[in-house]
Amino acid sequence: MAPKVLLTQLLPPDSQKLIESAKDVELVCWDKTGAIPREKFLEMAKGVDGIICMLTEKIDSELLNAAGPNLKVVSTVSVGYDHVDLNELRKRSILLGHTPGVLTDAVADITVLLVLAAARRIREGIRAVESGKWTWSQTWMLGVQFTNKTVGIVGLGRIGSATALRLKPFIGDNGKIIYFGRVEKPIASSLGATKVEFDTLIRESDVICICCELNEETKELFNYEVFKKMKSNVILVNTARGGIIRQDDLCRALSEGMLGSVGLDVMTPEPLNSNDPLLKFDRVIVIPHIGSATLETRTLMANLAIENVLSGVRGETLPHGVKM
Ligand code: DGY
Repeated sequence: MAPKVLLTQLLPPDSQKLIESAKDVELVCWDKTGAIPREKFLEMAKGVDGIICMLTEKIDSELLNAAGPNLKVVSTVSVGYDHVDLNELRKRSILLGHTPGVLTDAVADITVLLVLAAARRIREGIRAVESGKWTWSQTWMLGVQFTNKTVGIVGLGRIGSATALRLKPFIGDNGKIIYFGRVEKPIASSLGATKVEFDTLIRESDVICICCELNEETKELFNYEVFKKMKSNVILVNTARGGIIRQDDLCRALSEGMLGSVGLDVMTPEPLNSNDPLLKFDRVIVIPHIGSATLETRTLMANLAIENVLSGVRGETLPHGVKM
């Protein structure tokens, strides 16, 4: 019998054709718009050999139990895999594939977009135009100039480095790039970036970009005590995972007048409630986790996820496997 693969959401057209053309697997798809409802997911996972899932789907013991003993591989169409319980996979010897590398440019682009939009008060500007409150004057809507500023990157991995590279021309030769991370990164020297302690980064940066993964060490790394130490006009951008910021503390800090402006592509929860306190602040720009959302990138990500799941169900090594 052909191995059965569950796909929890239709992929971009070329990738969908690719998975549908795989001869030696039986494909079952959730083909309605949006994330698969949990109950459907539990039901459809029963007896499958492989799953292609999205970051919206929690892969935990309940799901793995529902899937049963045939399941060999989970292939997420994302680079981050904090939605997957690695311990539960390990216990059952199930492999995990993800999609590193191919979304670096798209996410770095959106990080820079948020930095610029936050610095130049774009949300406020658009609101002023739309509400007819456009009162141009010399001192209206003044934003932050990047020249000579210090950019702090938290996590100088692929996305962090690509972000630093893009921001370098904005800060010019007299600007500084500093970074915080567990290890010294060889790429740092070509970027002219200096490794610093976390405390130094948050105190000295004019722009802070969160580009690290969410794990036990980075969970709620940004909290009230940290916000208190930041420059009063700092630009804080998070395109990594919402859980790296303690969001209640961010709202408290903003309401007490701390921080300059904030740009978020990720938050808690996702989707964010439309009456969330975060949305009250003009100087906070929130976009709906679209860092990797270009057709080219999503196609490449989906293709990697397909390679992973097909290798997994065929008993081969995953080309883009997570080290378990
Ligand atoms: C990922 O792949 O983890 C990204 O968050 C998608 O934008």
